[in-house]
Amino acid sequence: MGHGATAAALAGDAARPAGQEMDLSMQGSPNGSAGSPVTDIDGARFRSVLGRFATGVVAITAIETGTGRPTGLAANSFTAVSLDPPLVAFCVAHTSTTWPRLRGADRLCINILSEPQLEVCKRLALKGGDKFADIEWTESPNGSPLIEGALAWIECSVEQEHVAGDHVIVVARVHALDKYHDGDPLLFYKGDYGSFS
Ligand SMILES: Cc1cc2nc3c(=O)[nH]c(=O)nc-3n(C[C@H](O)[C@H](O)[C@H](O)COP(=O)(O)O)c2cc1C
Repeated sequence: MGHGATAAALAGDAARPAGQEMDLSMQGSPNGSAGSPVTDIDGARFRSVLGRFATGVVAITAIETGTGRPTGLAANSFTAVSLDPPLVAFCVAHTSTTWPRLRGADRLCINILSEPQLEVCKRLALKGGDKFADIEWTESPNGSPLIEGALAWIECSVEQEHVAGDHVIVVARVHALDKYHDGDPLLFYKGDYGSFS
């Protein structure tokens, strides 16, 4: 696991919303003794503990209303929520400059990234610039940016936004979805990237 990529700095942006501290403070240490209670949670500790939860990575994309240009961001806070109605969710930092440009779109496309799409992930995690300059994409059925090489795509629309600490939890309704390319997923673990292979 791991390509040696230095994603540690980016893991800060990938931090999940607060609210899990109590459970974490009850975790035992590897030798079986209880860990010390968490009374003062700093960012480094939060990230290093939560970083032990391995995730996949998605690219959340849309055609920006107004400019008609594709935009997007990388996120590892994505999860399925409900089958009936079909809902998914992800968390976005209040500091994101891309989310305000995505959230106004009729449709978002969640692209589940594959291991060879590491550069796509890094590109969409950058602040500013034309994020799609070197990214090959096509249109999903309803015209959202579907990135070449993604394992699957999920077309959705924003249903609810819940402010949660320094992030907003976005609940989105799924309108269409399908598998796309076959391959291994891009994984994110302990602030680094990896895959199953
Ligand atoms: C692996 C990875 C996972 C990320 N997950 C999230 C996330 O779940 N939520 C989020 O707001 N930002 C996340 N980010 C950061 C965003 O992709 C991006 O860096 C951030 O939105 C800043 O760019 P912006 O100002 O263009 O939005 C992640 C970055 C990486 C590399």
